[in-house]
Amino acid sequence: MVRSLLTLGAAALLGATAVLADDIPTCSLDKKCPESAPCCSQYNQCGVGAYCLGGCDPRMSFSLDSCVPAPVCKDMTYKMDSLDRYKDISEYLGDSSKTDWVGQGEPLLYDGNVLLTMPPKSVGTVLATTTYMWYGNVKARLKTSRGRGVVTAFILFSDVKDEIDYEFVGVDLQTAQTNYYFQGIPDYVNGGNATIEGNSYDDFHDYEINWTPDEIQWIIDGKVGRTKKRSETWNATSNQWAYPQTPSRVQISIWPGGADTNAKGTVDWAGGAIDWNSDEIKDFGYYFATFAEVSVKCFNANSPPGTNKANSYYYNNIKGTNDTVVDSDKPTILKSLLGTGTNMNKGDGSSSTTGAHPSHSSGASVPGGGTAQVPGGTNPGAGTGNGNGANPNGDGSGSSNSGGSGSGTSGASPCQASGFSQSCDEGGSNGGTNPNSGSRVADRTLGASAFAVVIGFAGLLLL
Ligand SMILES: *[C@@H]1O[C@H](CO)[C@@H](O)[C@H](O)[C@H]1NC(C)=O
Ligand SMILES: *[C@@H]1O[C@H](CO)[C@@H](O)[C@H](O)[C@H]1NC(C)=O
Ligand SMILES: *[C@@H]1O[C@H](CO)[C@@H](O)[C@H](O)[C@H]1NC(C)=O
Repeated sequence: MVRSLLTLGAAALLGATAVLADDIPTCSLDKKCPESAPCCSQYNQCGVGAYCLGGCDPRMSFSLDSCVPAPVCKDMTYKMDSLDRYKDISEYLGDSSKTDWVGQGEPLLYDGNVLLTMPPKSVGTVLATTTYMWYGNVKARLKTSRGRGVVTAFILFSDVKDEIDYEFVGVDLQTAQTNYYFQGIPDYVNGGNATIEGNSYDDFHDYEINWTPDEIQWIIDGKVGRTKKRSETWNATSNQWAYPQTPSRVQISIWPGGADTNAKGTVDWAGGAIDWNSDEIKDFGYYFATFAEVSVKCFNANSPPGTNKANSYYYNNIKGTNDTVVDSDKPTILKSLLGTGTNMNKGDGSSSTTGAHPSHSSGASVPGGGTAQVPGGTNPGAGTGNGNGANPNGDGSGSSNSGGSGSGTSGASPCQASGFSQSCDEGGSNGGTNPNSGSRVADRTLGASAFAVVIGFAGLLLL
């Protein structure tokens, strides 16, 4: 089921050339993308266009320059009171001067904040900044979601899968789980908890990541909750620091850790199976996390690592370590979603001529769950966004339930309905059990990767 939808999506993306279901290429360190679909996405799927932008892993792509260079760090305060500078990934070509956030799912505006929503049986919502931080400070003012199996995340994620996390499990509103990864390598001792004063769902708190070449601090409401030093991360086998060190996007999300097709470990970690008939769903139509503001302060080093002097970052070596990142003048913008890092002008950027540029309206012709899975634009339930009566914080009255139920889910395929991809695509891309593939398995210690897998599928359906 999903395979056929995936095929449609991939075919559209690749200009309707013959792409058979079983040919949808996946990628890992040992299996680079083919020349025809050279870019390995954050979710370990090969493609062109969006696959070559944010999240494109140069180590797993056809060549190092298949990925489009990544916009350098900019000091920014993102007031989350508008979606004017947000674009769905199907509409973004790499111009970070016009777009602050790209994403998938259903971000909504409510009461001067952005809600990341998760309608019933959906895979939630993820937003990523269009610029990359190479060390620095990022602070988010947010209220988490709540409920069994519902996870809110605020993370830094690099194209070579370095990662620094906050994750909030909806059954424990007093704990922020913190974690970090070097190049996506699972390490079961990296996690640590920080205490939240009060309650993460009812009150806004400031969650901060202060990341330097020498240490990571997780800071809540101005108080350091955890510190990890680079000096504690030496890996004598690989002879390097297993420490996040490469330019990273800020990603904020809500995702269904407790989806029933997820690995049992993940479901348990997330507090149990998600309840799609909960009061939260009845009252509001979706689970949600609330973001008031995100601010980024760049590290501003004078010499690498950690500069943001030029226009874009790229990697000059497959090692993907901090000494292989180049702060360069290379351009970052594709002409169309047919482009790649080595052919940035491919296509003319107009959606009407080739038909290869997926848009929300063309998405409407994708049968079955295709449309339901493209939230925001095409989901008539939740897509309305602006003050349509969705009222998560208010009186909880019946009228507030206009959000994402109804058609948003009715057309979903079983796989989408269950939210998680691995059991939908056994033997497929993301089931990777080889941790070195960079496609981390969905296990409880790897919550964010489970999320990555999910959103990866949403992305393909979307595209
Ligand atoms: C963090 O807290 C959760 C409960 O919210 C617990 O299950 C987990 O074991 C804790 N992790 C660490 C590393 O202490
Ligand atoms: C950056 O790379 C250099 C050269 O490999 C290394 O000596 C240094 O420790 C690295 N810094 C971090 C933060 O990993
Ligand atoms: C250390 O590096 C080796 C070789 O790359 C890798 O297999 C292993 O998982 C790493 N260990 C840790 C704790 O990162």
